[in-house]
Order: sequence, then C-alpha cells, then structure tokens
Amino acid sequence: MHQAKVFITRRLPTDLAQLREVATIEVWEERQPPPYEVLLEKVKTIDGLLCLLTDRIDKQLIEAATCLKVISQMAVGYDNIDIPTATAKKIPVGHTPGVLTDATADFTWALLMAAARRVVEADRFTRAGLWQTWEPDLLLGPNITGATLGIVGLGRIGQAVARRAKGFEMRVLYTSKQRCQAELEKSLGVEFVSFEGLLQESDFVTIHTPLSDDTYHFFSYRQFEMMKHSAILINTARGGVINQDALYQALLQGQIAGAAIDVTDPEPIPTDSLLLTLDNLIIAPHIGSASQQTREKMANMAIANLIAGLKGERLPYCVNHPS
Ligand code: GLV
Repeated sequence: MHQAKVFITRRLPTDLAQLREVATIEVWEERQPPPYEVLLEKVKTIDGLLCLLTDRIDKQLIEAATCLKVISQMAVGYDNIDIPTATAKKIPVGHTPGVLTDATADFTWALLMAAARRVVEADRFTRAGLWQTWEPDLLLGPNITGATLGIVGLGRIGQAVARRAKGFEMRVLYTSKQRCQAELEKSLGVEFVSFEGLLQESDFVTIHTPLSDDTYHFFSYRQFEMMKHSAILINTARGGVINQDALYQALLQGQIAGAAIDVTDPEPIPTDSLLLTLDNLIIAPHIGSASQQTREKMANMAIANLIAGLKGERLPYCVNHPS
C-alpha cells in the first residue's frame, strides 16, 4: 500500500510517533522557513502538508500539488493560505482554534500593561544607569483599573480579553461585524458600540480581528485622528490590520500616547523600520501564543488534522470543509 508522504515546514514542539504510524515524514530542520521554491517542489509529491503562518501557500503552490490530501496549519489564522483555491481542489485546510485563546489573551494583557506602565522603557532606563533617586514624576503612565477598554473583534480571543478586564473594573466597549447575543454581552460585561464610538471613547484599544480584505489597514490616519491623545493601541492579531506609516505618524506626533504590537507587516519587521526608533512603541516578535503548553497543544492539533486528512476523514478543525 502507498505510504503517505508528509512535509512539515519546521521542527514541532511535540512527538511525531502517531504521525509516523501513518506517514513517511520529512521535517524542514532549518530555523528559517523553507524558501517558496522548495515548498513548490515538495508539494508536487506529498500527500500532507503541515505548515506555519510564515509559509506562503498561494494559488500557484496549491495548483502545483498533484496528490495533496490535506493542508494543516499550526495557527488559528490562515491568511497565508489561498482557501478558495484549496477548496476548489477539494483540499481541506486545518487550523488550531481555541487552544491558543488564553495564551494570546494573556499576552494581550502583558502588552497592555507593559505599554501603560512603561515596563520596557523602565528596564532600559535602569540598565542605562539612569536610576538616581525616587522621583515623583518618573515614568508615569495612565491608570489601567477603571479605564475604558475598546475591543475590536469579539471572537474567542476578544472575549477572553474582556473576561480578564473584569478584574480591572474596566468599562469594556466592543465593535464587531455582528453584535453578540445579549446574554453573552451581559456575562462578559461589554457594550456594543460603533467603530468610531469605540475609537473616540477608549483609553485602550485592542485588536482581535482576522486579516481580510475588509480589515486590511482598518487602522489608518483617520482612525488615529479619532482616538484620544492619551490612548494606547494593542495589536496581537495581524500586522496588516494597521497602516504602519499612519501608526508611526500617530505615535511620533502624539496623536496617541503609545502602542504595543506583537505583529507587523511584513514579518519580521525590517531592521531599518522607523517604528523601531520610537520609545512609545513596544514590538514583540509574534509570540502571542508562545506558552510551552499552548504550542504543544497547537502542534498536536495540527497533527490530528493532518492525520484525519490523510485518512480521508473530516478534519477536527477545518477551515473550508470541501465536499
Ligand atoms: C497566530 O498568530 C495564529 O494565528 O495562530
């Protein structure tokens, strides 16, 4: 019987024994992702692909596949994959929702608190030997407790962020494509508002919307102009949701007070990006889901999706369900 062939685009933080029982595995061992040309060659002969958000799985690549039965991505987002082409070729695409919700919500709060209370600046200040005495006005930031939090996109992660806000006695506003059930709003303690209203009223704005044609550059010059001068923006979703030139200008000119972003466009951020010159911006290297337990769960979920696809079964977590 034909032994299924699988290509995994990076070393995974889990055991591959179960997958080895059903497939011959090739793992890309480098730290950098496989170049596109390598993937394009590999995809011609494999039955299963396990990929990451750094791999461009576009129309050309999917169309080059001759026996590909499943694409399994170790991430909840899948904007790097051409889903319509995969669906047209009847290839199911798996992803890893749910397991990373808490880790990403936790990290959103880590960024929010670090930006508000200037943790990164404080560390730099101390290491530079500038701490000479206790000063009444040293490194002041805004209150978090009692502030207004605006959540853009109240999906799984947005909801988990809202739950955490309760501990800080915040007023929580949200805007979303669709308004949630009144019961959910009540249990989360959130108020539905327009995008404009949220921008105008929030002390902290946090982005939890997927990247799509609709949300590309959702935050641009006009949106920053609507925000409070004291506002802080957090992004743990996708870099493309923010127009980075507009963000740079807004931070430089004090249109908003600060930002903390875990995602950029492109990734990694070019080392000569002007954003890197700003003190009122914290940038993390896309580590929202990076707790040990979460990454292991994500890898296991991606493997479960892959195995199901190889067997011709319905993927436990499928983006497209092609019939
Ligand atoms: C991370 O950004 C993910 O989509 O899982």
